[in-house]
Amino acid sequence: MKMDPAAPHAPPLCFRSLRETDLPRVMEIERASFSTPWRDTTFRGLLLRGDTDLLAADRAGRLVGYAVCWTVVDQAELGNVAVDPAERGHGVGAALVDQAVRAVAARGAEELFLEVRESNLSAQSVYVRKGFEVVGRRRSYYAEPKEDALVMRLHIHPNH
Ligand SMILES: CC(C)(COP(=O)(O)OP(=O)(O)OC[C@H]1O[C@@H](n2cnc3c(N)ncnc32)[C@H](O)[C@@H]1OP(=O)(O)O)[C@@H](O)C(=O)NCCC(=O)NCCS
Repeated sequence: MKMDPAAPHAPPLCFRSLRETDLPRVMEIERASFSTPWRDTTFRGLLLRGDTDLLAADRAGRLVGYAVCWTVVDQAELGNVAVDPAERGHGVGAALVDQAVRAVAARGAEELFLEVRESNLSAQSVYVRKGFEVVGRRRSYYAEPKEDALVMRLHIHPNH
């Protein structure tokens, strides 16, 4: 029987840093989530960088989602966030955004930016709930299908 992740008896989520051994599972979620997924080598390169936070959401030893962000002085970018399709709609994405905000705040970031497909309303709903606002648009930023990106920004307060 498949366990409903929202059920009270579902194992709790825990958050930790992403590891190289997570990459096969990351790629499974990545391919299920994006029409132009990042390559395995992109994640490997980011794991080696000192300015990057790669965060894992883990349920009972199984990776269910991840977020990737990087910080340059006082500005940070949320470059990727994805959740296993079977686990969506139960707050994992929102919790990963919270973890990302904490991670970049600890590095001294005062603003966190991201790009999101204009049609990706479930992602936008998470970002708006977390306090992001639309501050721009990049025309035809995405391929497959071609689409504009909305640029969103969060002001990070000292209490984050
Ligand atoms: C965007 C994403 C990370 C959100 O993860 P999640 O765990 O579903 O996030 P949450 O449960 O915190 O919130 C999901 C929101 O979408 C809404 N939603 C509507 N229909 C949904 C569905 N079929 N499945 C999931 N969420 C749905 C939820 O109600 C919720 O909105 P709310 O904030 O107004 O309540 C996830 O959908 C995903 O991995 N998508 C593919 C990758 C992607 O688009 N990443 C973002 C790139 S910018």
